[in-house]
Amino acid sequence: MPAPLELTKRLAFTRQEHLVRWWDILSPTQQSQLQHQLESIDFPLIQRLYQARETDAGEAGADRASRATPPSQLVRQPVTPADRELWKRATTWGEQALAAGQVGAILVAGGQGTRLGFDHPKGMFPIGPVSNRTLFQIFCEQLLARGQRAGRTIPYLIMTSDATHAETVAFFEEQQFFGMDRGDVYFFRQGKLPAVDIRDGGILMESQDSVALSPDGHGGLLNALRNEGLLAEMQRRGVEYLYYHQVDNPTAIVCDPAFLGLHLLHNSEMSSKVVAKVSAEEKMGVLVSIDGQTQIIEYSDMPVERTRETEADGQLRFWAGNTAIHVINRSFLQGMIDRGQELPYHRANKPVPYLDSAGESITPTDKNAFKFEQFIFDVLPLATTALVVEADRTIEFNPVKNRSGADSPETSRAALLQAARQMAIDAGVRVAATARLEISPLFVLDAEELQRKRPTSPEISGDAVWPAP
Ligand code: UD1
Repeated sequence: MPAPLELTKRLAFTRQEHLVRWWDILSPTQQSQLQHQLESIDFPLIQRLYQARETDAGEAGADRASRATPPSQLVRQPVTPADRELWKRATTWGEQALAAGQVGAILVAGGQGTRLGFDHPKGMFPIGPVSNRTLFQIFCEQLLARGQRAGRTIPYLIMTSDATHAETVAFFEEQQFFGMDRGDVYFFRQGKLPAVDIRDGGILMESQDSVALSPDGHGGLLNALRNEGLLAEMQRRGVEYLYYHQVDNPTAIVCDPAFLGLHLLHNSEMSSKVVAKVSAEEKMGVLVSIDGQTQIIEYSDMPVERTRETEADGQLRFWAGNTAIHVINRSFLQGMIDRGQELPYHRANKPVPYLDSAGESITPTDKNAFKFEQFIFDVLPLATTALVVEADRTIEFNPVKNRSGADSPETSRAALLQAARQMAIDAGVRVAATARLEISPLFVLDAEELQRKRPTSPEISGDAVWPAP
């Protein structure tokens, strides 16, 4: 059976006829799978994105960077008594929002974690230094504990991709949702986009019956939330504020009351947590102000000479590194969806394996393809009020990105151990120099809670996990 006429016409119109090159030798099941895939692709969009290669991303990024100044709507870490008073008031406001059931959490877990070289969804990575708790477990335990404190459960929206969905859901099932109520966990899948040949914009085939597709970036969140009706579901539950975080940082304080409260006190529509970058070259997006709007410029779009600029005191001018922790008003996202507002696409030049015209599988060593992605932080400039809040880097930003060196399991585990040790010492516990202590969020969420709880063991001499398993 030849390829359906409607389909071949559409492909011919955007010069993608090669995608049905092997149609005649495919089985009916393969044909229908391929047809299904092709019908999900917005060919004019892909053509537009490829044709825009001369003018977009790079230059637009450099142009934005040239007009950037440090962020203006900024709350730095508390130093003075007045600062501490503000943070205390904010914490109360945040706790009230949690107690009123107005807060939901969003986890983006659709990435493939290529840099870490872990063959499963990154959330399954065992990061607990003593217990081997996974990243997923740490986040769920935080939400459970935070919900118990507030007297209201916190819904958890977990975005997966084709690459991570089945395994993530199976893992949660196997682990009995880490104690969370199933009705509070919503898995939803982000979309995908094809990779194109940099030479002619031809969409790459992965095999005879399949296109080379990859996740559409965490900005795909907007379309995915819309498609799954999840904002309406959050509205039904009374959720007004969405606490967004990434899968790679086990020390992120999920649903941090102080951050939520500062967002509320400033009447912000979207707020972002930042930490001071350790060096100009560190691969972090930076929070900036451009023409009066708060925005994030991704590290790949920031010219290196601008990243190195310093203020009179020698500090980096663009110091405010994006931790990718945000509070976003549900109604603000809903408004964007209702207006049909599209996020821009960012283009990345990458090596992508493909099938050549002779049907041979090629694993390129050069960057043969463009991939397109949307970034969630591109909603930031659309906010009427946006706030930037500084976090304590040592405590809150210890991501697992690389196999070794900086931002690796080793550095992240060391941070978890150090934080637990300090909390125990501050609560009057003697911790031997060689002892390793891990504290589950289910035991205590922070140092203050531990002080109140007064741990029973006065001394820790070896490895310990609180609460004991
Ligand atoms: C990201 C930020 C960077 C920030 C840094 C902090 C982007 C583009 N950059 O960089 O500004 O300073 O984190 O750690 O986000 N994800 C999806 N679907 C996708 C792609 C990614 O869910 O299609 C998720 C990943 O699972 C992960 C997160 O998004 O949770 C970040 O992705 P990654 O590509 O690793 O971002 P970084 O380059 O580390």
